[in-house]
Amino acid sequence: RPRILSGMQPTDGSLHLGNYIGALRQWVALQEDFDALYFVADLHSLTVNPDPAALRERTRRTAAQYLAAGVDPSRSVLFVQSHVPEHAQLGWLLQCQTGFGEASRMTQFKDKSAKQGSEGTTVGLFAYPMLMAADILLYDSALVPVGEDQRQHLELTRDLAERVNTRFGDGTVVVPGAHIVKAGAKIQDLQNPSAKMSKSSSGGKGVVWLLEDPKKAAKAIKGAVTDADETYAVRYDPAAKPGISNLLTIFSAVTGREIDAIAAEYDGRGYGYLKVDLAEAVVAFLAPFQERATTYLDDPAQLDKVLADGADRAREIAAPVLERVYERFGLLPLA
Ligand code: TYM
Repeated sequence: RPRILSGMQPTDGSLHLGNYIGALRQWVALQEDFDALYFVADLHSLTVNPDPAALRERTRRTAAQYLAAGVDPSRSVLFVQSHVPEHAQLGWLLQCQTGFGEASRMTQFKDKSAKQGSEGTTVGLFAYPMLMAADILLYDSALVPVGEDQRQHLELTRDLAERVNTRFGDGTVVVPGAHIVKAGAKIQDLQNPSAKMSKSSSGGKGVVWLLEDPKKAAKAIKGAVTDADETYAVRYDPAAKPGISNLLTIFSAVTGREIDAIAAEYDGRGYGYLKVDLAEAVVAFLAPFQERATTYLDDPAQLDKVLADGADRAREIAAPVLERVYERFGLLPLA
């Protein structure tokens, strides 16, 4: 079976609906047909210097949310990035294959570094996409399920993989493909439907956090900014009606119903009904999700055991791949 891999940063205390719809939900579906590896990208989070105790806590919380969403550790390999040292090792090799200009063109780096200024921007943030490429190439991954905002990083990964194979011989690494869903790859901020849902958009007010009080989530949905056109039509049209289209996408994702069927039900009745019912559907989704996450968080020893087992299985794949790449690069094997 082809291998897939993906990860998320444990930067906040909770994942949000965008992470769930754009990525996590796909992960759960894909583990049926693929050999899947899903990890918590704690090394990536270091680029923004989190508080150490908070990072540890968030790493467990992120893993618990994977499990609560339905990632099944008996089928998929679930692990923490820093438990597999090969990620950082391959990351260095790939940094040495990346042009300074090429890395400077990464739009996420440009956005973040513009906000933080050149002294506030770490070299780690600059090197971040090469660590991500290492995550992917370390497992000979065929496919990487992510949201739209990771597309450029995946393209860089593919470019690097092709370059490495040209320089060091075919088969040094496997060139991966992207798996970006059509609907839901970019969930927008509820307060600003032209920006993706994230902590930095609208100061977090337009974000639904998976672990927050469901009442707050319901309030955020009911307070969503919708499109002020004359008709108040409910239809899926992201260009003309970004706010409503976003709500329809969320509605469909949390209920499993078709977007068109939902639109038909609410069209002509005004936005209010849609928002009230969506708020209810989101609460109905969050409540059991949180119950499951809490079960995992209440037993950290068991959770750590699952993660340790995942790290063992991940290393079994990663170690020989790194050895192969080291050898091709001309690093002298240890006698
Ligand atoms: P991260 O942690 O920012 O986001 C995790 C996943 O959630 C998706 N996502 C969204 N999807 C739809 N709508 C949104 N508003 C939204 N916001 C986030 C992201 O596209 C991502 O799939 N660099 C990665 C983590 C990473 C990784 C990897 C991913 C590290 N190494 C290797 C895949 C393979 C990141 O920062 O994602």
